[in-house]
Amino acid sequence: MKEKPIGIFDSGVGGLTVAHAIKQILPGESLVYFGDTAHLPYGDKSAEAIRYYSGKITEFLLDHNSKVVLVACNSASASAFDTLKNEFEGRAILIDVIDPVVDYLSTRNFKKIGVIGTKRTISSGTYDKKLKEKAPATSVVSMATPLLVPMIEEGFIFDDISNAIIRTYLSNETLSGIEALILGCTHYPIIRNQISKFFNFNVEVVDSARIVSMILRETLEKNNLLCDSGKVQDQFFISDYTSYFEKIARMFFEGEINLKKADIWS
Ligand code: DGL
Repeated sequence: MKEKPIGIFDSGVGGLTVAHAIKQILPGESLVYFGDTAHLPYGDKSAEAIRYYSGKITEFLLDHNSKVVLVACNSASASAFDTLKNEFEGRAILIDVIDPVVDYLSTRNFKKIGVIGTKRTISSGTYDKKLKEKAPATSVVSMATPLLVPMIEEGFIFDDISNAIIRTYLSNETLSGIEALILGCTHYPIIRNQISKFFNFNVEVVDSARIVSMILRETLEKNNLLCDSGKVQDQFFISDYTSYFEKIARMFFEGEINLKKADIWS
Protein backbone atom coordinates (compact mmCIF):
# COMPACT_ATOMS: atom_id res chain seq x y z
CA MET A 1 0.00 0.00 0.00
CA LYS A 2 2.78 2.46 0.93
CA GLU A 3 4.45 2.08 -2.45
CA LYS A 4 1.34 3.07 -4.36
CA PRO A 5 1.52 6.45 -6.09
CA ILE A 6 -0.16 9.74 -5.27
CA GLY A 7 -2.77 10.51 -7.94
CA ILE A 8 -3.06 14.17 -8.92
CA PHE A 9 -5.21 15.91 -11.49
CA ASP A 10 -5.89 19.29 -13.01
CA SER A 11 -7.19 20.60 -16.33
CA GLY A 12 -3.64 21.22 -17.57
CA VAL A 13 -0.29 22.41 -16.29
CA GLY A 14 -1.66 24.07 -13.13
CA GLY A 15 -1.52 20.96 -11.00
CA LEU A 16 2.18 20.64 -11.84
CA THR A 17 2.78 23.47 -9.35
CA VAL A 18 1.33 21.19 -6.67
CA ALA A 19 3.12 18.09 -8.00
CA HIS A 20 6.40 20.00 -7.90
CA ALA A 21 5.88 21.07 -4.28
CA ILE A 22 5.03 17.45 -3.35
CA LYS A 23 8.29 16.27 -4.88
CA GLN A 24 10.21 18.72 -2.73
CA ILE A 25 8.42 17.84 0.50
CA LEU A 26 7.92 14.12 -0.18
CA PRO A 27 10.77 13.05 -2.52
CA GLY A 28 10.17 9.36 -1.80
CA GLU A 29 6.65 9.33 -3.24
CA SER A 30 5.75 8.34 -6.79
CA LEU A 31 3.18 10.42 -8.69
CA VAL A 32 0.61 9.66 -11.30
CA TYR A 33 -0.53 12.93 -12.85
CA PHE A 34 -3.48 13.53 -15.15
CA GLY A 35 -3.82 16.81 -17.07
CA ASP A 36 -7.20 17.02 -18.80
CA THR A 37 -5.86 19.15 -21.65
CA ALA A 38 -8.73 18.05 -23.93
CA HIS A 39 -11.21 19.93 -21.71
CA LEU A 40 -9.12 22.90 -20.66
CA PRO A 41 -10.09 25.43 -19.34
CA TYR A 42 -12.29 24.06 -16.57
CA GLY A 43 -12.95 27.56 -15.27
CA ASP A 44 -15.47 28.29 -18.02
CA LYS A 45 -17.30 24.95 -17.77
CA SER A 46 -20.46 24.15 -15.82
CA ALA A 47 -20.21 22.52 -12.40
CA GLU A 48 -21.94 19.41 -13.89
CA ALA A 49 -19.32 19.07 -16.63
CA ILE A 50 -16.47 19.44 -14.14
CA ARG A 51 -18.07 16.85 -11.84
CA TYR A 52 -18.29 14.42 -14.76
CA TYR A 53 -14.66 14.95 -15.85
CA SER A 54 -13.41 14.75 -12.26
CA GLY A 55 -15.27 11.49 -11.62
CA LYS A 56 -13.81 9.84 -14.71
CA ILE A 57 -10.30 11.03 -13.92
CA THR A 58 -10.57 9.82 -10.33
CA GLU A 59 -11.55 6.37 -11.65
CA PHE A 60 -8.51 6.49 -13.92
CA LEU A 61 -6.19 7.42 -11.05
CA LEU A 62 -7.66 4.65 -8.89
CA ASP A 63 -7.17 2.18 -11.74
CA HIS A 64 -3.53 3.27 -11.61
CA ASN A 65 -3.43 2.26 -7.94
CA SER A 66 -3.38 5.70 -6.34
CA LYS A 67 -3.38 5.61 -2.53
CA VAL A 68 -4.42 9.28 -2.50
CA VAL A 69 -6.29 11.35 -5.08
CA LEU A 70 -5.36 15.01 -4.88
CA VAL A 71 -7.65 17.39 -6.71
CA ALA A 72 -4.98 19.91 -7.75
CA CYS A 73 -7.51 22.24 -9.35
CA ASN A 74 -9.57 24.89 -7.58
CA SER A 75 -12.38 24.78 -10.13
CA ALA A 76 -12.78 21.03 -9.54
CA SER A 77 -12.28 21.38 -5.77
CA ALA A 78 -15.07 23.99 -5.68
CA SER A 79 -17.49 22.11 -7.94
CA ALA A 80 -16.76 18.42 -7.60
CA PHE A 81 -15.00 17.62 -4.33
CA ASP A 82 -18.13 16.79 -2.29
CA THR A 83 -19.39 14.51 -5.06
CA LEU A 84 -16.01 12.80 -5.35
CA LYS A 85 -15.96 12.22 -1.59
CA ASN A 86 -19.42 10.66 -1.67
CA GLU A 87 -18.49 8.44 -4.57
CA PHE A 88 -14.91 7.41 -3.83
CA GLU A 89 -14.23 7.74 -0.10
CA GLY A 90 -13.10 4.37 1.17
CA ARG A 91 -11.23 3.55 -2.05
CA ALA A 92 -8.54 6.22 -1.55
CA ILE A 93 -7.85 9.29 0.56
CA LEU A 94 -9.18 12.41 -1.16
CA ILE A 95 -7.60 15.84 -0.73
CA ASP A 96 -8.65 19.14 -2.28
CA VAL A 97 -6.77 22.43 -2.62
CA ILE A 98 -9.26 24.79 -0.97
CA ASP A 99 -9.76 23.44 2.59
CA PRO A 100 -6.03 23.35 3.48
CA VAL A 101 -5.65 27.01 2.41
CA VAL A 102 -8.73 28.09 4.37
CA ASP A 103 -7.44 26.24 7.45
CA TYR A 104 -4.04 27.90 7.09
CA LEU A 105 -5.58 31.38 6.75
CA SER A 106 -7.84 30.85 9.75
CA THR A 107 -4.66 30.79 11.88
CA ARG A 108 -3.60 34.24 10.60
CA ASN A 109 -5.29 37.47 11.59
CA PHE A 110 -5.68 39.22 8.28
CA LYS A 111 -8.26 42.01 8.14
CA LYS A 112 -8.85 41.79 4.42
CA ILE A 113 -8.04 38.94 2.04
CA GLY A 114 -8.46 38.88 -1.74
CA VAL A 115 -9.14 35.78 -3.83
CA ILE A 116 -8.53 35.51 -7.55
CA GLY A 117 -9.52 32.46 -9.57
CA THR A 118 -11.45 31.16 -12.53
CA LYS A 119 -15.07 32.12 -13.17
CA ARG A 120 -16.18 28.71 -11.88
CA THR A 121 -14.24 28.98 -8.61
CA ILE A 122 -15.22 32.59 -7.91
CA SER A 123 -18.90 32.18 -8.82
CA SER A 124 -19.12 29.12 -6.55
CA GLY A 125 -18.34 31.41 -3.57
CA THR A 126 -16.51 28.49 -1.94
CA TYR A 127 -13.58 30.50 -0.54
CA ASP A 128 -15.91 33.24 0.75
CA LYS A 129 -18.22 30.75 2.48
CA LYS A 130 -15.45 28.66 4.02
CA LEU A 131 -13.44 31.68 5.19
CA LYS A 132 -16.55 33.26 6.70
CA GLU A 133 -17.03 30.09 8.76
CA LYS A 134 -13.40 29.64 9.85
CA ALA A 135 -12.16 33.26 9.98
CA PRO A 136 -15.27 35.36 10.65
CA ALA A 137 -13.28 38.51 11.49
CA THR A 138 -11.61 38.60 8.09
CA SER A 139 -13.27 40.37 5.20
CA VAL A 140 -12.96 38.55 1.88
CA VAL A 141 -13.18 40.03 -1.60
CA SER A 142 -13.01 37.93 -4.71
CA MET A 143 -12.54 38.50 -8.38
CA ALA A 144 -12.55 36.23 -11.43
CA THR A 145 -9.45 36.59 -13.60
CA PRO A 146 -10.38 34.34 -16.54
CA LEU A 147 -7.67 35.45 -18.96
CA LEU A 148 -4.85 34.20 -16.76
CA VAL A 149 -5.23 30.45 -17.49
CA PRO A 150 -5.30 30.76 -21.31
CA MET A 151 -2.47 33.28 -21.04
CA ILE A 152 -0.33 30.82 -19.05
CA GLU A 153 -1.34 27.80 -21.17
CA GLU A 154 -0.31 29.77 -24.29
CA GLY A 155 3.09 30.48 -22.76
CA PHE A 156 2.66 34.22 -22.13
CA ILE A 157 4.43 34.44 -18.81
CA PHE A 158 7.23 36.98 -18.61
CA ASP A 159 6.36 39.43 -21.36
CA ASP A 160 4.43 42.61 -22.16
CA ILE A 161 1.17 40.75 -22.75
CA SER A 162 1.23 38.99 -19.39
CA ASN A 163 2.37 42.13 -17.58
CA ALA A 164 -0.49 44.16 -19.06
CA ILE A 165 -3.11 41.53 -18.18
CA ILE A 166 -1.79 41.05 -14.65
CA ARG A 167 -1.60 44.81 -14.03
CA THR A 168 -5.11 45.41 -15.37
CA TYR A 169 -6.65 42.72 -13.16
CA LEU A 170 -4.74 43.46 -9.97
CA SER A 171 -5.26 47.21 -10.07
CA ASN A 172 -9.02 46.64 -9.84
CA GLU A 173 -10.45 48.59 -6.91
CA THR A 174 -11.99 45.43 -5.43
CA LEU A 175 -8.53 44.36 -4.29
CA SER A 176 -7.49 47.65 -2.70
CA GLY A 177 -6.27 47.34 0.88
CA ILE A 178 -5.86 43.55 0.90
CA GLU A 179 -3.18 42.10 3.17
CA ALA A 180 -3.12 38.68 1.53
CA LEU A 181 -4.09 37.36 -1.88
CA ILE A 182 -5.15 33.74 -2.39
CA LEU A 183 -4.10 32.39 -5.77
CA GLY A 184 -7.33 30.44 -6.16
CA CYS A 185 -6.14 28.62 -9.25
CA THR A 186 -3.23 26.20 -9.39
CA HIS A 187 -2.00 27.76 -12.64
CA TYR A 188 -1.27 31.08 -10.96
CA PRO A 189 1.88 30.13 -8.98
CA ILE A 190 3.59 30.06 -12.39
CA ILE A 191 3.19 33.89 -12.41
CA ARG A 192 3.55 34.29 -8.67
CA ASN A 193 6.62 36.55 -8.89
CA GLN A 194 4.92 38.99 -11.23
CA ILE A 195 1.92 39.11 -8.86
CA SER A 196 4.10 39.73 -5.78
CA LYS A 197 6.00 42.37 -7.69
CA PHE A 198 2.79 44.17 -8.64
CA PHE A 199 2.06 44.59 -4.90
CA ASN A 200 5.68 45.62 -4.21
CA PHE A 201 5.97 42.46 -2.09
CA ASN A 202 3.67 44.08 0.54
CA VAL A 203 0.85 41.55 0.17
CA GLU A 204 1.22 37.90 1.24
CA VAL A 205 0.60 35.87 -1.88
CA VAL A 206 -0.85 32.53 -0.79
CA ASP A 207 -0.72 29.54 -3.09
CA SER A 208 -1.94 26.09 -2.29
CA ALA A 209 1.05 24.10 -3.55
CA ARG A 210 3.17 24.08 -0.39
CA ILE A 211 0.28 24.21 2.05
CA VAL A 212 -1.43 21.22 0.41
CA SER A 213 1.83 19.26 0.26
CA MET A 214 2.29 19.69 4.01
CA ILE A 215 -1.26 18.44 4.60
CA LEU A 216 -0.53 15.50 2.31
CA ARG A 217 2.56 14.63 4.34
CA GLU A 218 0.61 14.83 7.62
CA THR A 219 -2.14 12.65 6.16
CA LEU A 220 0.28 10.01 4.90
CA GLU A 221 2.07 9.95 8.26
CA LYS A 222 -1.18 9.66 10.17
CA ASN A 223 -2.30 6.74 8.00
CA ASN A 224 1.10 5.06 8.03
CA LEU A 225 1.32 5.41 4.25
CA LEU A 226 4.63 7.26 3.78
CA CYS A 227 6.69 5.48 1.15
CA ASP A 228 10.17 4.48 2.26
CA SER A 229 11.07 1.94 -0.44
CA GLY A 230 13.51 4.23 -2.30
CA LYS A 231 11.80 3.30 -5.59
CA VAL A 232 10.27 6.33 -7.27
CA GLN A 233 8.49 6.25 -10.60
CA ASP A 234 6.41 9.17 -11.85
CA GLN A 235 3.89 8.96 -14.66
CA PHE A 236 2.25 11.85 -16.50
CA PHE A 237 -0.90 11.49 -18.57
CA ILE A 238 -2.72 14.06 -20.67
CA SER A 239 -5.99 13.72 -22.55
CA ASP A 240 -4.73 15.70 -25.55
CA TYR A 241 -1.14 16.22 -26.57
CA THR A 242 0.19 19.80 -26.29
CA SER A 243 3.87 20.60 -26.65
CA TYR A 244 3.43 23.32 -24.04
CA PHE A 245 2.41 20.77 -21.40
CA GLU A 246 5.55 18.81 -22.11
CA LYS A 247 7.70 21.95 -21.97
CA ILE A 248 6.31 23.08 -18.61
CA ALA A 249 6.47 19.55 -17.19
CA ARG A 250 10.14 19.32 -18.17
CA MET A 251 10.76 22.72 -16.61
CA PHE A 252 9.29 21.58 -13.28
CA PHE A 253 10.71 18.07 -13.33
CA GLU A 254 14.05 18.73 -14.99
CA GLY A 255 14.77 16.38 -17.83
CA GLU A 256 13.02 13.26 -18.99
CA ILE A 257 9.42 12.78 -18.04
CA ASN A 258 7.30 9.82 -18.87
CA LEU A 259 4.38 11.56 -20.71
CA LYS A 260 1.57 9.54 -22.26
CA LYS A 261 -1.69 10.39 -23.92
CA ALA A 262 -4.60 8.61 -22.24
CA ASP A 263 -7.90 8.47 -24.04
CA ILE A 264 -10.36 8.15 -21.20
CA TRP A 265 -13.26 9.89 -22.90
CA SER A 266 -14.21 7.44 -25.63
N1 DGL B 1 -5.82 25.11 -12.50
C1 DGL B 1 -7.23 25.04 -12.40
C2 DGL B 1 -7.79 25.70 -11.19
O1 DGL B 1 -7.12 25.68 -10.18
C3 DGL B 1 -8.04 25.08 -13.64
C4 DGL B 1 -7.96 26.25 -14.51
C5 DGL B 1 -8.83 26.07 -15.72
O2 DGL B 1 -8.73 25.05 -16.38
O3 DGL B 1 -9.66 26.98 -15.99
O4 DGL B 1 -8.90 26.18 -11.16
